[in-house]
Amino acid sequence: MSEPVQTPQTFPTRIFSGIQPSGGMTLGNYLGALKRFAEIQNKGAETIYCVVDLHAITVWQDPEALRRQTREIAAAFIASGVDPSRSILFNQSQVTAHAELAWLFNCVARIGWMYRMTQFKDKSGKNAENSSLGLLAYPSLMAADILAYKATHVPVGEDQKQHLELTRDIAIKFNHDYKVPFFPVTEPLIEGAATKVMSLRDGSKKMSKSDPSDQSRINLTDDADTIAAKIRKAKTDAEPLPESLDGLKDRPEARNLVNIFAALSGQTPEAVVTEFAGAQFGSFKPRLAELAVEKLAPITAEMNRLMADPGEIDRILGDGANRAAAIAQPILAEAQQIMGLIRSR
Ligand code: AMP
Ligand code: TRP
Repeated sequence: MSEPVQTPQTFPTRIFSGIQPSGGMTLGNYLGALKRFAEIQNKGAETIYCVVDLHAITVWQDPEALRRQTREIAAAFIASGVDPSRSILFNQSQVTAHAELAWLFNCVARIGWMYRMTQFKDKSGKNAENSSLGLLAYPSLMAADILAYKATHVPVGEDQKQHLELTRDIAIKFNHDYKVPFFPVTEPLIEGAATKVMSLRDGSKKMSKSDPSDQSRINLTDDADTIAAKIRKAKTDAEPLPESLDGLKDRPEARNLVNIFAALSGQTPEAVVTEFAGAQFGSFKPRLAELAVEKLAPITAEMNRLMADPGEIDRILGDGANRAAAIAQPILAEAQQIMGLIRSR
């Protein structure tokens, strides 16, 4: 065997991330992803953000609902502070390089890598043979999303860590097989107090838009009364808040509410515990509800305002797609050439 090709980390910093338009947005999406996307953009990095509609259709989507949700996610990005003039914001299917590069990666990645993905196991359930072929190949398309831009850093929640490792494996195998340091080995950015926001009903499950219980999550479209009621009813234990974070070790529901408070207020969880040491949940929860409403209400209002003009959202997505394609097309063409595919026009 030849030596693996070392990929020098000399690629310029470029950020890419995506969110599926497969249902409403939750507080988990906001704290784990959207809020951070805006923060990274505001630090001046080159940021590319994508509504990954091709990923959404790996499971059944009603076409009319998919169109609405794609616009709604785009509105959520903008309402959370992603500025379409400073970041590139678009929907995946409008830039054909994603699907084309994904095919190339389908021929680089191994089937066994795909079967090992916990998201595939969770989503395909007991009837894996009957899930779509796209659901199995999902991580290959995700690698294409990222590597079509040679993105160096990908901000995501903790649940996406395994997919990003697979993206790295695909880049390394491509570089090795074709003996060129062509793709960067992308780093995940999994940071902050809320990389994994848990269900309000069960501290061992992540907050998810697909949970059958609406009480388990806060949706970005919930009104103030609904948010307050969900936090009031959130599962906790009978103990007061401890003096230090150590005291939350075996109290997942309490730890989750502290993390949410920290992420919403921009503090560390340590600082929150110090502030509320000895407080009962009867007094902590109303403070958390107040904070959540204060932070989320303006976002919900802005989303609603943007959704009233779907034509304008489509125009923004089209403009973003043109700018994205200008970066991705030459990278795709070069990958095709490296693999021996003739491009003569
Ligand atoms: P998805 O809605 O599955 O497309 O996820 C979009 C982004 O939100 C990804 O970066 C996820 O890691 C992140 N995310 C989803 N759920 C949560 C959660 N409960 N806590 C933190 N981040 C999350
Ligand atoms: N798989 C991600 C999720 O479910 C969404 C996604 C698709 C993504 N392509 C991506 C995230 C590229 C980051 C980078 O959350």
